[in-house]
Amino acid sequence: MPDARYRNSWFVIAVLFAICAAGFSAPAESATPAESATTAAQAAIAACPETDSGLKLPAGFCATIFADGIGHARHLVVAANGVVYVNTWSGRYYGNDTPHAGGFLVALQDTTGAGKANINDRFGETVQSGGAGGTGIGLYKGGLFAEINDKIVRYTLSAGSIVPHGPAVPVVTGLPLGGDHPMRPFAIDRDGSLYVDLATATNACQVQNRTTHSPGIDPCTELNTRGGIWRYDATKSNQVFSPAERFATGIRNAEGFAIDAADHIFVTQHGRDQLHANWPERYKPEEEATQPAEELLLLKQGGDYGWPECYYDAIQRKLVLAPEYGGDGGKKLGPCADKSAPIASFPAHWAPNAMALYDKSQFPAHYRHGVFIAFHGSWDRAPYAQGGYNIVFQALAGDHASGQCEVFADGFAGAAESPDQAAHRPSGVAVGPDGALYVSDDVRGRIYRIVYRGAAGADGAAATTPCPSAAAPAGKVSVDEAKPPEGTHPDAGNADATASLPVPEGATKEMVALGDRIYHGQVGGAACTGCHGANATGTTLGPDLTGTHWLWGDGSYAAIEKIISAGVPQPKQYRSPMPPMGGAQLSSDQVSAVAAYIWALSHRAPAASRTSGAAN
Ligand code: HEC
Repeated sequence: MPDARYRNSWFVIAVLFAICAAGFSAPAESATPAESATTAAQAAIAACPETDSGLKLPAGFCATIFADGIGHARHLVVAANGVVYVNTWSGRYYGNDTPHAGGFLVALQDTTGAGKANINDRFGETVQSGGAGGTGIGLYKGGLFAEINDKIVRYTLSAGSIVPHGPAVPVVTGLPLGGDHPMRPFAIDRDGSLYVDLATATNACQVQNRTTHSPGIDPCTELNTRGGIWRYDATKSNQVFSPAERFATGIRNAEGFAIDAADHIFVTQHGRDQLHANWPERYKPEEEATQPAEELLLLKQGGDYGWPECYYDAIQRKLVLAPEYGGDGGKKLGPCADKSAPIASFPAHWAPNAMALYDKSQFPAHYRHGVFIAFHGSWDRAPYAQGGYNIVFQALAGDHASGQCEVFADGFAGAAESPDQAAHRPSGVAVGPDGALYVSDDVRGRIYRIVYRGAAGADGAAATTPCPSAAAPAGKVSVDEAKPPEGTHPDAGNADATASLPVPEGATKEMVALGDRIYHGQVGGAACTGCHGANATGTTLGPDLTGTHWLWGDGSYAAIEKIISAGVPQPKQYRSPMPPMGGAQLSSDQVSAVAAYIWALSHRAPAASRTSGAAN
């Protein structure tokens, strides 16, 4: 994936392009047809009414900030009258971040045509009524469907108001929650079948989740209630979850759905994490970042897509046996030869959180047979550069993919692509009735509206950016990831970078410096940054380690050392456990060093304020 450092230069290049196109374009009569097409597209960039979205888009596309600061915005849908409905989650679903005042559901409307919502109404459950929010949202026959806690509910929308006034009727209740993937996104087909993603509680169905050398439970009983798609009826009420309604299995986390006119159901699939961290003898450090691929599946009733025994090898392009079930690093296939492989794959850990079929005609012809996928962005590629944080277009042909995917929109994260530093992370994507594309962000609650303003009749194929290959190497160890907490020091990871930190009694400056390198994954293979953030100020997967408040122990050097060795099998506030030593095999000297580093961080200047954002 492109390095985050180029992000600003893209923006500069786009602006320069626009200026050049406006000021120095060749006279039309001397231009070849290809040149005039390019000039027209460049002029269209210059004509974008707003340039503050920060997004990098293909020539001819413009984005506006449709809404901002609406809470941790997850999936969204657009009604036939153009009203955008968004589900949000906070509190316990989002690293205990403070929920937005008002209900978790948001209705946004632009009545002036400016590409910005001037009406912003909240409704639905609140924290006071026991809500924590949700991801899934949908529309079907005058009903607005939303996931809230363990339920999917239906509101009746009536003319004259953009928010429903009647009560929410439960459609399905008792959906299993908790664990690694508490979100319950869904899709409704034209016959009213409601397909719900019940993603897994664990990474790979291990006896001890995310723990080095912990074997897979065999058979994986979690599959009875999770790790698949369940089917309900959107027109019925008070259906109660049970294992019996399972529609397809072996899907770790299918957050994005798209159903085409021929009733093909496509779902995205998040590949498992921690191949190297948990199985260091079988996977090289860079394979933590490059394996396995993310997937696009064609959903079939009774289908088995392989989790947890199998994962999709990004380079060999096939399902191979997972180490928890006797896999040997990618050669043995075992039962995986008989499982359903994806129809397309994407770079590892990019986190495909949502998907929308493009079935309108505003965008150029190139986009009319395919899906837009919102990639939330990775946490598990450290110490290599993270990836994703973009909107990708994947062309389809009938029931299969057509060609390689393209990066359609980028620049959401801003200067740094990491869960704790990204300014915005794509989380939902939807198409409006006029063919505009809407993207939600669950860090700062921004909604983007992307429209085509380029030449009419342009095919659009010329202006595309291919996705990086899923087989691409991990690249260089990322300097950004290795930044010390100050975030500015150029010599991250060496003794100089930690020279100003205090040293606990019983440790040395060298240990603190080594601890910095271990923390950032440069030594020992631990993924501390993945859950606690590059600055250790916390993400939705793990707490802030830089403050004076401790969930475990008294914050002494010895207590920190103890918690790092033992891990946290049952977190007090976070939804999934911390494996011993962060899931890696650290020597006792390495544990002491990383503990000295954490102690040092928590005994320096006042802690920076915490930002969240790693959850998928
Ligand atoms: C998979 C996510 C994950 C990884 C990887 C991880 N942690 Fe944690 N960590 C957590 C969670 C969750 C907690 C407990 C929070 C709770 O109790 O609610 C925690 C707790 C801690 C605590 C105690 C914090 C307190 O408030 O008492 C320390 C110290 C810590 N982790 C350090 C580390 C270090 C160092 C690494 C890398 C070697 C690491 N962690 C890797 C998720 C993780």
